[in-house]
Amino acid sequence: KFSVSGREPEYFSPRSCKELMQRYKTKEDGLYYLSTASGVVYQTYCDMTTAGGGWTLVASVHENNMYGKCTTGDRWSSQQGGSPNVPDGDGSWSNTVTFGTAEAATSDDFKNPGYYDITAEDVAVWHVPNNERVDQWKVKSFLRYHTETKFLNSYRGNLYNLFKQFPVKFGVGSCPANHGPSVPVVYDVGNTKSNHNLYGPNIRGTSEPGFITFRAINTERAALAICSGVKPTGCHNEHCCIGGCGYFPEASPRQCGDFTGFDWDGYGTGVGWSASKQVTEAAVLIFYR
Ligand code: G3P
Ligand code: CA
Ligand code: CA
Repeated sequence: KFSVSGREPEYFSPRSCKELMQRYKTKEDGLYYLSTASGVVYQTYCDMTTAGGGWTLVASVHENNMYGKCTTGDRWSSQQGGSPNVPDGDGSWSNTVTFGTAEAATSDDFKNPGYYDITAEDVAVWHVPNNERVDQWKVKSFLRYHTETKFLNSYRGNLYNLFKQFPVKFGVGSCPANHGPSVPVVYDVGNTKSNHNLYGPNIRGTSEPGFITFRAINTERAALAICSGVKPTGCHNEHCCIGGCGYFPEASPRQCGDFTGFDWDGYGTGVGWSASKQVTEAAVLIFYR
């Protein structure tokens, strides 16, 4: 079909990897160009093989400096120091700001227009060691899972809309009353036990693996975006959830940053509340389907 205005990108480029697979029969994993409804063309990675394929990479959360507390590179929390005056932090979970590139998704933060443009049903998450090249992501990832419940249908089709409903903002609610949804996951690499072991023993005692949780709250009413692979049963969620608001009161700014309080009992020690070195030094890639 011919587009007179040139403003109907669906005639030129697919809007998601799922559409690319279904309409154009593309079967190979790799980098492709997609287009938004408003005609913005961008490149991202498509996983065309896991559980039927059609998964679009829309974001990666990368910790460039665990010792920097809400400093440069903390785009999924705050690059502004950690202050009650900026309760939303950078606001990336629910705005249309984009950054990074697909190819550098394990070396820096990445957010493309698909994050807010694609209407999806499920998410997949990959933990890939930092600085791996695209063709190695799949084999080097040590944790990969996806949801199958089509839960995004209840949250207007993507995380941008889900986080509008559950703002990642300091002071927005309390733990555990105001957590967002916890959705069961199916593992593609790893299992509940290996997933749980990525976090410290104190977290293993206060969470249940086999879920992805959105917008958790901690004891001090800081908001956290994603608890990867776990459903919190306690409230010190800053040691297992990533991305967050602009202010973490406990020992401020020590828990402020993209990987929040993963280093509370030392960097990569896996002791007490601290996460393992493996998960601390890996990017979290987020896909939609
Ligand atoms: O999040 C952990 C903190 O609230 C308590 O830490 O060092 O007293 O176990 P700690
Ligand atoms: Ca970051
Ligand atoms: Ca705490």
